[in-house]
Amino acid sequence: MIQLSIPTITDEMKEKVLEILDSRRFIKGPNVEAFEKEFSRYCGAGYGVSANSGTSAIFMALKALGVGAKDEVIVPSHTFIASATPILMVGAKPVFVDTGNDYLMDVNDVERKTTSRTKAVICVHLYGQMCDMDRLMQLKEKSGFALIEDCCQAHGAEYNGRRAGSFGEAGCFSFFPSKNMTVAGDGGMAVTSDEKLYKIMKMLHDHGRDYSTKEGKYKSTILGYNFRMSEISAAIGMCQLKLLDEWSQRRREIAAQYNEMLTDDLVKPVVAKNRKHVYHLYVVRTERRNELQKFLHENGIETGIHYPIPIHKQPVFEDCKLPNTENLCNEILSLPIYPLLGDEQVKQICNRINEFFE
Ligand SMILES: Cc1ncc(COP(=O)(O)O)c(C=O)c1O
Repeated sequence: MIQLSIPTITDEMKEKVLEILDSRRFIKGPNVEAFEKEFSRYCGAGYGVSANSGTSAIFMALKALGVGAKDEVIVPSHTFIASATPILMVGAKPVFVDTGNDYLMDVNDVERKTTSRTKAVICVHLYGQMCDMDRLMQLKEKSGFALIEDCCQAHGAEYNGRRAGSFGEAGCFSFFPSKNMTVAGDGGMAVTSDEKLYKIMKMLHDHGRDYSTKEGKYKSTILGYNFRMSEISAAIGMCQLKLLDEWSQRRREIAAQYNEMLTDDLVKPVVAKNRKHVYHLYVVRTERRNELQKFLHENGIETGIHYPIPIHKQPVFEDCKLPNTENLCNEILSLPIYPLLGDEQVKQICNRINEFFE
């Protein structure tokens, strides 16, 4: 079976795990500190606050920005549900926008739906490609909302040479095993260049404690929680970060092979101007999606659907009408893409798909 995604694990990662087990320092150690520094620097942001998931990172960003009851937060519906659940968790109202043919949030719809209650916009750099940041930054300037970038699928992606996570007030990342880099478990990080926001998120992720004060450890200045990342996770993250650019390059190579070899009976992903795609997912479109998925499964090729149910159709959210998003989810199919995928396997996948359409 050719799998949809496989994380890369190196000997250095294995050695680090043993080293930390021997050290007996599992929480709040040098690895977490180094990973926050290195990862935020990589993104072009001033600070990083590690978390136990990408979902927690988005929650921390919303909370630190003071988003709460009576506020509206604009978010695309075509994304993983965790882009929007933190909005409900802070008591605000999600306002869903439709998606363009590039699979990214439709900025015209953002403009239409911005009101005086729009406290924040969460833009999602879905599948590894960044949203139209020029237009979003213009709208932000005009309307004054805070911008949170959901970068959970876009580690190292670029817009005009600037990396994902460096545009908004905060950029939120996931290190779940299928992501472009992982901590070999759940994990996340919020990056920011706003010192005040950083300090609040730092407290939020550790019971509201302010370690810059003398009584820090036993005094909770604000209402926080436990969103901490472990030392082992952070050390694995550090090892993965060193390889991220090489891995993104390999993902782009695989995407180029798909683009070249796959039949035009499928709609292939488009890369918009000024963007460096990191192909977290390579997503094609066809009206014969379900048939094709079954055929590939029978031929030993695993595929995925990201995502079969738009968020506004999920029972925990309020329904609305978003025609493009609703069409899209019946036609999209994610093909295998990851650095360990070989050229021969890519060829095999393309041959099978082309055979299906013959
Ligand atoms: C776009 C998007 N947002 C948010 C998340 C949530 O991240 P996590 O699974 O680490 O909580 C994910 C990943 O699962 C994601 O793909």
